[in-house]
Amino acid sequence: MAYAAITGWGEGLPPAILTNDDLSTFLETSDEWITTRTGMKERRISHVTAVEMAAIACRRALACAGVEAADVDLIVYGGCSNEEVVPNSASGVQVALGATHAAAMDLNTACTSFIYGLSTATALIQNGTVRNALVIGVELISRYIDWGNRNVAVLFGDGAAAVFVQASDTAEGVMGSVLGCDAEARQVLRVRGVGCGYAGLGVTFGDTLWDFDGQAIFKRAVKGMTEACERVMRQAGVTGDQVDLVIPHQANLRIIESVAKHAGVPMERVMVTVQKYGNMSAATVPVSLVEALKDGRVTPGSLLLMPGFGGGLTYGALLVRWGSRVTPLGESTAAFPPLQHSALEMVNAVRATQDPNGRSSAGLMTPVFAEARLAAAHSAPS
Ligand code: ACO
Repeated sequence: MAYAAITGWGEGLPPAILTNDDLSTFLETSDEWITTRTGMKERRISHVTAVEMAAIACRRALACAGVEAADVDLIVYGGCSNEEVVPNSASGVQVALGATHAAAMDLNTACTSFIYGLSTATALIQNGTVRNALVIGVELISRYIDWGNRNVAVLFGDGAAAVFVQASDTAEGVMGSVLGCDAEARQVLRVRGVGCGYAGLGVTFGDTLWDFDGQAIFKRAVKGMTEACERVMRQAGVTGDQVDLVIPHQANLRIIESVAKHAGVPMERVMVTVQKYGNMSAATVPVSLVEALKDGRVTPGSLLLMPGFGGGLTYGALLVRWGSRVTPLGESTAAFPPLQHSALEMVNAVRATQDPNGRSSAGLMTPVFAEARLAAAHSAPS
């Protein structure tokens, strides 16, 4: 049986930081409420596009694997932040990288897009369709969040990360995969206005209004992730004490603690990044994986458990056996262009385009972002 080893990894975390105190300048909220209810202290706001963030992460992942972009067979763009539906975003990443021989697909299962993407890429490598793949988790939620709605505005952040997976004879990479969807509750998390189904339904195409039942999502997240962990561990014949590190989706510290407890893994063996980045949706698990590698928390042969959930309500869990290498083969010079504005200034620019109900059609491209895009286009990352 062929395996799909993870041989490259890299993140594309935008530098601008939005703190809880920044949020308190325009929302009726507080650092104390956000910290105690969610564990979040700060999150990132991107001054470049989602494709640009993804391309930075991919360049770093390719350098880490010692692979040229021209040798990439497949790009999986996991996330629900697409600048356009047609053409897809993966093709934009292909152009940015010069990965001219790659197939390119977008995969949207909301926050679980990276988990679904890594499972899919592994299967395509195992059945011989492709020899390798770049799998991306990326999100640019700051452009379409309801900044006037404190129930959602405090929870999310922007970011990207990617891994490079390639065929291997060694038993490593994704060893078990459980994917599911609690669709009965699909209405508890919905972004109204993005999608052609909104024509004539009283919401203008391009507006973004979030339906978000936090408590319902919380309960179903714990249930979905817990069951996925149990199933993937049972299938592989492993127990919580054999898991070296849990790298979960990070929507709320209390959800993470509950899932870890059910999985029988103490918090010392759980990677927590929610305090620094909030919920980056599809980017959360891969960013946390890259941070775990940087922190030396992934060692040769480590067994990793990666549970997640997201809109849909999709859920899943991967069991990953790490290979022998935990350090990059090389480093990319890819970097974000210089910041022109603070995170709060960028958020205020989007808010200025939103009406009191949180609609944000013009927020998809504000003057601030247009300027940042221009700056990005003139920088030349390798
Ligand atoms: N600041 C201050 N007060 C707030 C805020 C805020 N930002 N948000 C809500 N409140 C208030 C509410 O209005 C409510 O006030 P009330 O009692 O006067 O009515 C009170 O705080 C308690 O609200 P609850 O909703 O009961 O708070 P809870 O403890 O459930 O925490 C939270 C809310 C953090 C959203 C929690 O339910 C949660 O984490 N849910 C899951 C979220 C999640 O998983 N999101 C990801 C979805 S999938 C994806 O990743 C895309």
